[in-house]
Parts: sequence; C-alpha cells; structure tokens
Amino acid sequence: MKQKPSINPISSILKNHYEKSFEKFGPSSAGVDWGQDKTRMLIRYNNMLDLVEKPQARKKQSLLDVGCGFGGLAAYARQKDIALNYTGIDVATNMIRWAKKNIKQSKFIEDDFLAHDFSGATYDYIICNGILTQKLDCSLREMDVFAKALIHKMYSLCKKGIAFNIMTTYVNFFAPNLYYKHPAELLSYCLSELSTKVKIDHAYGLYEFTVYVYR
Ligand SMILES: C[S@@+](CC[C@H](N)C(=O)[O-])C[C@H]1O[C@@H](n2cnc3c(N)ncnc32)[C@H](O)[C@@H]1O
Repeated sequence: MKQKPSINPISSILKNHYEKSFEKFGPSSAGVDWGQDKTRMLIRYNNMLDLVEKPQARKKQSLLDVGCGFGGLAAYARQKDIALNYTGIDVATNMIRWAKKNIKQSKFIEDDFLAHDFSGATYDYIICNGILTQKLDCSLREMDVFAKALIHKMYSLCKKGIAFNIMTTYVNFFAPNLYYKHPAELLSYCLSELSTKVKIDHAYGLYEFTVYVYR
C-alpha cells in the first residue's frame, strides 16, 4: 500500500499557529491572522480573483484555493456572482471543519498542500492567498525551500495559471517572524523556472505583492 507522505515541518508549524488564531477569533480576518481590518482581506480576495477569466464565464472555471482558511474567498466569489468549481485545501483542522459546515457548493480538503496526493487532478486556476507571509521561527533558507516547492506544485497542477502573494522587501522595517522577498528576484525566478507569462502587482500598498503566472 502507498504510504501517505508526512506533513512538511513548516506546514506543521503554520498549522499550529493558524489553528490558534481561528480558535481565538473565528471566521474573520483576525481568525486567519490577517489583522482586524476587513477591507485588506477584501483587497486580497479581489487580487486573487483577478486571475480568473471573468466575468461570469460561460463555463465554470475550476479553482483550487491553497491555504483556503475558513473558505472566505469561496463565499466572496459567490457574492460577486463569479461562478467557480471551487476546491479549498487547508492544513488547519478547525477552519476546514467550519468551512465544510458553512460554505455550500464547495469542496474542502483538510491536508498539507505539499503532502496531499491530488491523484492526477488538475485545476484551471490555483491561488495561494497568505501562506507565504509568516515564517515564524523557521529559517530563511528553510522558508525559501518551502516557498519554491509550494509555487512549483501549484504551477504543476494548474491548466491556466496561478496567483500568490508574498511580502515585499520594500518595507519600513523587517519583522523577524515574517517572510519577505525582493519582487525582482521572484519575478526572475518565475520567468526562468515557470513561464514567461508573468505579471506582478506591487501597487496596492499592503507591504506585499501578488504574482500571476500563466501557462
Ligand atoms: C493568512 S491565512 C489565509 C487564509 C485564507 N487564504 C484567507 O485569505 O482567508 C494562511 C492559511 O494557510 C494555511 N496553510 C499554511 N500552510 C499550509 C499548507 N502547507 N497547506 C495547506 N494550508 C496551509 C493556514 O492554515 C492558514 O489558514
């Protein structure tokens, strides 16, 4: 019998951290540790949905939301009338339990994205909204390996494109628990390793940027 790969050590640290946030604050911006300001959460949802062919594409697009939290983006897309075949995956048990109960017409998987066996499934679009922001106690080197593995796996499972956000090095100060990347370095990485069809949005002012990579 095939053995299930064990959880990635960084995923395990993040799981512990985010389960505590959710336990404390519930299904909200603070619950996924984005802070109290809901408008920032909505800016990020809109950025992620910018990846998807819109509006109201005739055929439902499939979308995999990596690190989906409590499924807030699925509910937001529905509210905006963006028809999606939505699947969310998250390593936080309490968030996925909540999402399965409360967000209809969506599929939720509780697992570490890096360890999960998708058994040949692919998705039109794959997004990752917020995994690459906190490194907590992990080293930069470990986090770099984790980030590259995550981005590569996202790209390998997508049919049309991926989007993810990450903290920029253009900040006023560096917090030791956060993970920063120079936008030009990441752009160069995506261009040489994934695809020449890359867009970066560094203009929305949340000390982060969003990268879009298309096939
Ligand atoms: C900042 S939160 C964002 C949640 C959601 N995307 C949102 O914007 O509401 C990051 C999420 O990524 C999840 N996560 C971290 N590492 C993961 C991994 N390896 N696989 C799946 N989920 C992961 C955490 O549990 C957490 O819910």
